[in-house]
Amino acid sequence: MKELQTIGDFIRWGASQFNQANLFFGHGTDNAVDEATTLVVYALHLPQELPDILWHSKLTYPEKQKIIEFFNIRIAKNIPSPYITKEAWFTNLSFYVNQHVLIPRSPIAELIEQRFEPWMDYSNSIKMLDLCTGSGCIAIASSILAFPNTVIDATDISYDALDVAKKNVSTYGLEQKINLIQSNLFSNLGNKLYNLIVSNPPYVDVEELKNMPLEYTHEPKIGLAAGTDGLFFVEQILRHATKHLTSDGILIVEVGLSQTNLIKRYPDVPFTWLKFQRGGEGVFLLTYEQLCHLNQVEV
Ligand SMILES: C[S@@+](CC[C@H](N)C(=O)[O-])C[C@H]1O[C@@H](n2cnc3c(N)ncnc32)[C@H](O)[C@@H]1O
Repeated sequence: MKELQTIGDFIRWGASQFNQANLFFGHGTDNAVDEATTLVVYALHLPQELPDILWHSKLTYPEKQKIIEFFNIRIAKNIPSPYITKEAWFTNLSFYVNQHVLIPRSPIAELIEQRFEPWMDYSNSIKMLDLCTGSGCIAIASSILAFPNTVIDATDISYDALDVAKKNVSTYGLEQKINLIQSNLFSNLGNKLYNLIVSNPPYVDVEELKNMPLEYTHEPKIGLAAGTDGLFFVEQILRHATKHLTSDGILIVEVGLSQTNLIKRYPDVPFTWLKFQRGGEGVFLLTYEQLCHLNQVEV
């Protein structure tokens, strides 16, 4: 280990080890160098955006030991680095995460940054629901970046996930702006109506679940698994959303690779599949009217 002296040495070495171990990246970073950087700066209590000058800083023996410990955990257990650092980034905001919540990575981040334009009309005050909130990332980012003057409801079935969301809500001081509600989809929402319902529900089908890289096995299965065709939750959302949407309301749902199965299941529904500049797909938008039509056809 004597050859490794500087921060740069350890980032390079870690990246080489990760590539050699064929790790999967996709939970916050998409390559070995960024993944190694994340763990090195975390071990050293330094900012994620490491100033160039520090790449050549020499490390003490205990610092080297700490970095190696994190690298070993990453490699031996295939744990995505946000579960080691307990931090994930979404819309450039930091979120506490643990293994009760999925690591935030939804392309819906872009819609939030664009304040859901051109889909939302700001002449009226917005009522928003984040269904299946997990870490609370969609509700919190929407509150900060899109709708600072409104109260957002955020639901999840998992009390453990809601504990994480509560911690994040408190970090951003949004206790008055975000209502966390334990609910099996819409079941505990009474007759509440929203102009905007956004959801990133579980949508992974059995086959995809079996073939996912080991890193995903550290995420809560309750956040991923959605039956044989991945549509278990989205079908329920499509069936019940009209009861909770205003007549000018819209529903935005992420379904990932289950997009194909969804189109097969509802061949006549005019889903608007949203486009993202930073990549990602499988997010649809339907209006209240389209949902009413879908349900009439279904009956
Ligand atoms: C794909 S994760 C999304 C989390 C978060 N919105 C995000 O984008 O990172 C899905 C979430 O749905 C929750 N969930 C699973 N079944 C549910 C149900 N029946 N009702 C409400 N939430 C559910 C899980 O606990 C998990 O937090």
